[in-house]
Amino acid sequence: MEANQGWETLLTIGAEEGDVHLYGKETMEGIWEFSRTLVDNEESITAVGSVKGWENALSLLDDYSWLELYPIYIDERLRAHVAKEVLTTSIHHKDTFMAWADRCFPDVNSNIVFAANWIQTAGSTVVLTGAGMSTESNIPDFRSSSGWWKQIDPRTVATTEALAGNYPLFQEFYARRIEALKDIDPHEGHRVLASWEQLNLIDVIGTQNVDGLHAAAGSNNVHELHGSIDKIRCDDCDMPAEKIAFVENEACFQCNGKLRPNVVLFGEMLPQKAWTKTLEAIEKADLVIVIGTSLEVYPVNQLPNMTSGRTIYINAEISDVTHRFDIVIEGMAKLTLMEINELVLRSA
Ligand code: APR
Repeated sequence: MEANQGWETLLTIGAEEGDVHLYGKETMEGIWEFSRTLVDNEESITAVGSVKGWENALSLLDDYSWLELYPIYIDERLRAHVAKEVLTTSIHHKDTFMAWADRCFPDVNSNIVFAANWIQTAGSTVVLTGAGMSTESNIPDFRSSSGWWKQIDPRTVATTEALAGNYPLFQEFYARRIEALKDIDPHEGHRVLASWEQLNLIDVIGTQNVDGLHAAAGSNNVHELHGSIDKIRCDDCDMPAEKIAFVENEACFQCNGKLRPNVVLFGEMLPQKAWTKTLEAIEKADLVIVIGTSLEVYPVNQLPNMTSGRTIYINAEISDVTHRFDIVIEGMAKLTLMEINELVLRSA
């Protein structure tokens, strides 16, 4: 088949044994036909197979791991179909992936493209979040410049010693945080994670956050590793109590003991079930995505080390923990998740 007769080159891939071309032409009926050729040498080219319809064109390359080869030319009309393959095919060579990502998503940070590919090709994915996941819902984090621990010494409010020996300040601090949650809603980043659970792209969220925003956004498989500020109990007899009773500084109605939120204080054990479930999921995960945490607090900061899978770190500030991650995206949680999701949605 000569390269003319109305055939147009739509895709050229560099391969050692000779470039691979995908040709296309529009028939009189307006239907697009596609054919693949392998250039044996200057003179002759061998045409193999032909299909109809843009969505089937790339199937002519199925017996090739063509995404492991280099792109030489992609026709604009084929780009969206190639882009979908780039986002949904497991690719082993980072440099060829970068070449295809640059061709298909020239204006997108290649780490965002990597993340979208890894999320869609991983068998099991766990997301681990920290306070940075909630700051765009107007909840302060702890250790960045506007964080809680820049205003107040955590030892005076967030420890078992504070609960036992400094109850008025303890109660005032947590009552203030509970009140501040009243007008708080999850943001688009929380909703993206909930949609990825719906799409079976993520299995579990382990969160250090006590604000309940992942569940509020629709995520079901959430393990609250540091408990929940939304639940109150008596520290002496464990009797549950209403939030309003704690906020109004009442004593336990059962034993007159101290009321406290079900958050994990420094010095306390993490909830066994939440920890075990998250650890089990991470140990068998193909991908762990860590979002909005300084990873300064033990033992949650050990969890990213517990996977043999790939790891992605999305955080506003990059620190000395980043060397542990395969991909590091310095950015805001909401915008980054929305950017990744924009590519995920293009793969559907
Ligand atoms: N997007 C991405 N990252 C963000 C954002 C955002 N919008 N806002 C803040 N960050 C980053 C900060 O730069 C910081 O590195 O999130 C991280 C939050 O870290 P911390 O404030 O230390 O919060 P976290 O890691 O969740 O703390 C763990 O410490 O005090 C305890 O119990 C508390 O659960 C908390 C634990």
